[in-house]
Amino acid sequence: MNKIKYIAKVKRYNPKTNESYFQDFEVEVEDSLTVLELLMYIKDKIDASLTFRAFCRSAICGSCAMIINGRAGLACKIQAKDKVKNGVIRIEPLNNLPIVKDLVVDQEPAFNKLKSIKPYLVPDPKVVPENNKVESLVLPEEFERYDKQTDCILCMACYGQCNALEGDEKYIGPFQLTKAFRFIMDTRDGVDIKTRIKLTENHGIWECVQCQMCLAACPKGIRPAEDILELRRIAKDTGEENIATRRAQFWFETVYATGQIDKWHLPEVAFADERGKAATKKLEEEFRSRGMKEDEFGPKPFADIKKFQNFIKKLEKEL
Ligand code: FES
Repeated sequence: MNKIKYIAKVKRYNPKTNESYFQDFEVEVEDSLTVLELLMYIKDKIDASLTFRAFCRSAICGSCAMIINGRAGLACKIQAKDKVKNGVIRIEPLNNLPIVKDLVVDQEPAFNKLKSIKPYLVPDPKVVPENNKVESLVLPEEFERYDKQTDCILCMACYGQCNALEGDEKYIGPFQLTKAFRFIMDTRDGVDIKTRIKLTENHGIWECVQCQMCLAACPKGIRPAEDILELRRIAKDTGEENIATRRAQFWFETVYATGQIDKWHLPEVAFADERGKAATKKLEEEFRSRGMKEDEFGPKPFADIKKFQNFIKKLEKEL
């Protein structure tokens, strides 16, 4: 076995003194170590006070998620030597969660958000036999719709890398929304889709910024950002007025009237609450800071707008 020398730069946090800092550990270790084994080596041989969470060491329990060189992942699944850059590997706790000590985060806030979407099956009596001696069958093609999503091990790597959470700490979160998608797709579930969708809408599916970081973070290859897009489509198709239908309607009306999207009023109309007003106000401030006058904030109809409107009318008749 080859040995390699490098520096492990580990983020420490002392809850007693509220101190947070990076500590460098110079190590000479076998090149086959995972990041978790590296941390265990440091704890065993250099500093017993180093604190991290781990259990299965096999990418199953989800305990050891952390940020390694800026990317969230499971410490027990990632080879340390693959992450050493210029002789250094940087290890930090997950973002978006309170730190308890060193690399250990408090998962409670994320679990509370998970609870808010009702992450369990409420058996539909029309589908699930009341006699529990009879199996409740799911067809393979039905299971395929949410098979991948059932692989989630709740490691929170996606949550710890989520950009939407940096802007809105109340945002429900990627793995929670994937879980909501999983139960909406389950044919045995008795909760109606509108109710389930409603649970995902407040600081939820519309706040996702589609940065795709959750896809890169997930050690199981789950794609929360794509599930969120699906949830948005379902929300739009459920027929009730919601942020998606208001957004689509306003988008169509302003494009029809002027040929452009009215970005100024779009948040106010789409959200239809204080969040929308605040977003519109923020936009106004931004426009003013760019030297724009109020009559320049919204779109103006372009010269050939009549031609464009006739074209839309023609399309509508053909549909
Ligand atoms: Fe269980 Fe890493 S220790 S997933």
